[in-house]
Amino acid sequence: MTATILPAAPAAIEEAARLLRAGALVAFPTETVYGLGGDALDERAVAEIFTAKGRPAFNPLIIHVLGLAEAEAHARFDARARRAAERFWPGPLSLVLPRRPESGLSLLASAGLDTVAMRAPAHPVAQALLRAAGRPIAAPSANRSGRLSPTEAAHAAAELGGRVALILDGGRCPVGVESTVLDLSGERPALLRPGGLPLEELAAVLGPISLAGDRRRRSPGMLESHYAPALPLRLEAAAARPGEALLAFGPQIPPGFAAVENLSRTGDLAEAAANLFAMLRRLDRPQFAGIATMPIPEHGLGRAINDRLRRAAAPRPG
Ligand code: TXA
Ligand code: MG
Repeated sequence: MTATILPAAPAAIEEAARLLRAGALVAFPTETVYGLGGDALDERAVAEIFTAKGRPAFNPLIIHVLGLAEAEAHARFDARARRAAERFWPGPLSLVLPRRPESGLSLLASAGLDTVAMRAPAHPVAQALLRAAGRPIAAPSANRSGRLSPTEAAHAAAELGGRVALILDGGRCPVGVESTVLDLSGERPALLRPGGLPLEELAAVLGPISLAGDRRRRSPGMLESHYAPALPLRLEAAAARPGEALLAFGPQIPPGFAAVENLSRTGDLAEAAANLFAMLRRLDRPQFAGIATMPIPEHGLGRAINDRLRRAAAPRPG
């Protein structure tokens, strides 16, 4: 089955909101990646999200809201959390907070935890959809579990096909990597996933942030292998191997690769993040023996890029 893709004009957004309220799933653009959305108050719709993605039920979802006022109905914000939301929302930051017991949010969305991840997206289409639906939207990235996240409507269609009622096409996602996930449920802020909001910016507002030693325990979704293309990935390659394609970064490209995509010729990390998943997808073709990557600086958005590349290169289960 193929998915219906509609340009994100007002009538299409209304239709998507109607589908959401009726319990169906819709894919929509955010500034980070495309999300697979369902009504966060509807246990059945949330169960459908797990099924459509083939996602293990222990991995909780992010709840999308319009802003702090709406989020406070579902999670407990202390002064520190309020400061983070006021400074960085709307934007690519998800906050893990104590869940209000009286919150009507699907229990499945939190995967049985007493915390909930909340984010207010900055993308105008995501905001218009939230407004039209009039309820929080649970939305993981719109890919099959463990695969590359979609940064274009066509990627979401290729990943989910007929498992989604409608895909809103809002063009390419400007940030290109998923939101930064910050745990504010404990004493010290802990980074659970580096993402579209650089750690340095968070630390400037919140002070020291721990890099969560045992991340797999703290964030169930941080499985070692993730974001994987079909081809094997080789990190920080210095020279070409036969038949290999190269995901390059910067002005100097080593010779001998069967194909090259350059994340950013000028070494711009924001440009590289925006290109990351689309370029990996383009290089992920059976005619190549594998994908090699070049070193990326470990600061700013480079942290999120390196995290995704390391996971894509990690040994795969099965
Ligand atoms: O940019 C994004 O965050 C995108 C767009 C669509 O908003 N969404 C996204 O969702 O990347 P997903 O489901 O692919 O990743 C959510 C991450 C997972 O690593 C999950 O384990 C973590 O957030 N997470 C969600 N709720 C959590 C909680 N209560 N405690 C710890 N980690 C949580
Ligand atoms: Mg994901």
